Amino acid sequence: MSANKIHIFDTTLRDGEQVPGCKLNTTEKVELALKLEELGVDIIEAGFPISSPGDFNSVNEISKIITKASVCGLTRAVQKDIEVAAEALKYAKRPRIHTGIGTSDLHIKHKFNSNQEDILLRAIQCVKWAKNFVDDVEFYAEDAGRTDNVYLARVVEAVIKAGATVVNIPDTTGYCLPHQYGEKIAFLVNNVSNIDKAIISCHCHNDLGLATANSISGIINGARQIECTINGLGERAGNTSLEEVVMIIQQHKNLGFHSGVNAKLLNPMSLLVAETMRMPVQCNKAIVGSNAFSHSSGIHQDGFLKDALTYEIIDPVEVGAEASKIVLTARSGRSALAHRFHKLGYTFNRNDIDRLYQEFLLVADSKKEVMEEDLHELAKAHVAEVV
Ligand code: KIV
Ligand code: ZN
Repeated sequence: MSANKIHIFDTTLRDGEQVPGCKLNTTEKVELALKLEELGVDIIEAGFPISSPGDFNSVNEISKIITKASVCGLTRAVQKDIEVAAEALKYAKRPRIHTGIGTSDLHIKHKFNSNQEDILLRAIQCVKWAKNFVDDVEFYAEDAGRTDNVYLARVVEAVIKAGATVVNIPDTTGYCLPHQYGEKIAFLVNNVSNIDKAIISCHCHNDLGLATANSISGIINGARQIECTINGLGERAGNTSLEEVVMIIQQHKNLGFHSGVNAKLLNPMSLLVAETMRMPVQCNKAIVGSNAFSHSSGIHQDGFLKDALTYEIIDPVEVGAEASKIVLTARSGRSALAHRFHKLGYTFNRNDIDRLYQEFLLVADSKKEVMEEDLHELAKAHVAEVV
């Protein structure tokens, strides 16, 4: 396997599904899992089996039908959780148990009323327990973003020794700045003696809008797995958005990374998740928002119509989106107006467009967007006037 392959760990069906209103039933989860596999993700986190009988069933059904991707179930550092996850995953071709515990002082003191040494022991025990059931065990150090790096390195070294194949360094609260998160990953790379025996994973939340930037900083500093969700869904402000990291890796080839995701399926996948989870995508969302390939100001439209590269870094075809749109508003210019008339079958000369543009602005000032029917009206009135 190439050293620069970034493993895409999709957690739409687990962290994404934790969003209020996004709960999925087993049929919906199975349908999305099949599409995620087709998309090319490497790992599908299918759920948290002990959390409910329904989620156990979903993980179990997904395990039966997924053939290429690893199927992963989340647990706490609790024996019963791990046993239930192992049972839910028993039909999976590539089962992974994702177990872990909070490692920041805040979690250790206030959540567990414990101390660093006891938490270290529990971390080791949960990995060892999970190893009784599956080879592939991922350990998460919850709130690693706010965990002291020296202690984090001790925990990471110990869980790798216990058999963890992947070590997840979550910025659970979305607190880190990109350089801080990157330094944390670099610290682990440089200070954990057995780090070469495991893959480091980034799991970043978006509370400060930095989830994607932090994940990219993580891989630049040595991580090789990114945990992400379609449309950036997830607890509170969400998780790292899958479509963003995939396209950053693809657009910035000089970083030297690649993923197995078929970018042409990103927009259809985003639509399917939005519909199934009943969670619309914000229109200005990168890659998959409805405005991601729309141009509305005159300066941009003029440039775009001369050469799309002036205002677009991605061809919408590359990400399975509809063709770029020229939207007409009061900020639009003559070239955009002429272009839209042309598309409707009207051929007007420069003088016509100059006159039509004045009429157009009156309409545009009175509404948010000038629509096709408005253009027909304007064209008819103009033709009637000049004949
Ligand atoms: O945000 C987080 O820390 C998590 C862990 C359970 C991996 O979702
Ligand atoms: Zn999370």
